[in-house]
Amino acid sequence: MCRKIGHAATLLILASVRFAHAQPAEPAALDGEKLFKQQCGACHSVVAGESGRQGPNLHGVYERKPGSVEGFHYSGGYEKADFVWDEPHLDAYLTNPQAVIPGSIMPYRQAKAPVRAAIISYLKEQK
Ligand code: HEC
Repeated sequence: MCRKIGHAATLLILASVRFAHAQPAEPAALDGEKLFKQQCGACHSVVAGESGRQGPNLHGVYERKPGSVEGFHYSGGYEKADFVWDEPHLDAYLTNPQAVIPGSIMPYRQAKAPVRAAIISYLKEQK
């Protein structure tokens, strides 16, 4: 009986060691495009000329002034913003939109820095 349990335990340990080895040493690079589609795509398009959804079109958003998509009705804080959407501003905005644009109605927050970084580098390419 005891030997049987011992054997099972050994197998379990071996199995977990093998499982641990199967994991890559570094986490796989995050796919910004996939993350964007999953987390932003319902509200934002990145296709030039496509009309906004709940949020404005983000084609060419990188280094653009906040609130500059014509025809999109932003809440009041965007036109007062005196900066362009660069990495630090996008990073802070995706962490907490209201901290960067007071009164923003964008209902999204991302606490994970690597996820924000992957999405921002995808946005940079959309020009
Ligand atoms: C549930 C809908 C929703 C989701 C999800 C969402 N957004 Fe937004 N986003 C908005 C809305 C609405 C606005 C405009 C807010 C306002 O007028 O207050 C906005 C504005 C923005 C702006 C400012 C654009 C400009 O022209 O100044 C950026 C940048 C942005 N979103 C990026 C993102 C990214 C990147 C994601 C995903 C990580 C995301 N958003 C997820 C709804 C959303």
